[in-house]
Amino acid sequence: MDITISGDTDSEFLECVDDILRNREFRKLVCYKQHFNTTRFLHCLNVSYISWRLAKKFRLDARTAARAGLLHDFCPYDFKEPVPTGEHQAFYHPKAAAYNSAANFQITEKEHAAILSHMFPLGPIPTSREAWIITCADKLCATVELFQMPIAMARPGRVKIHAA
Ligand SMILES: [Fe+2]
Ligand SMILES: [Fe+2]
Repeated sequence: MDITISGDTDSEFLECVDDILRNREFRKLVCYKQHFNTTRFLHCLNVSYISWRLAKKFRLDARTAARAGLLHDFCPYDFKEPVPTGEHQAFYHPKAAAYNSAANFQITEKEHAAILSHMFPLGPIPTSREAWIITCADKLCATVELFQMPIAMARPGRVKIHAA
């Protein structure tokens, strides 16, 4: 699979998340739909980019915002499947994403906590300003995706995915 991101995307952002975007397991997210007609891959990328931009604007830890934002829904499975713990998917999938993130990447405690709290108030309260940004960016992205409004990385032509 070949994924290309248009050249007008900030290189500083791409440097923060390059290893994740190249990861074979993470790329499986292109196979899952999220919020009507968006792929989970593009949803995660959008949350990551918006979180990175906001963190930079507020002079926070933009790298953590970008990486935890990208990994917040790292769940390569169908959300309609029953979950092993019997919990509602809304409560289960942040734990699955945190587990998958730790299994595939070197993530910090701050990133781990931000992934776990992204569904707030359905789950734990965010414990850092970057985590607050991610939970807000997730809700913003979910809303615009439901209404099929292309913003940020979802703008036409910005991300192209070619099957191998
Ligand atoms: Fe989520
Ligand atoms: Fe999400």
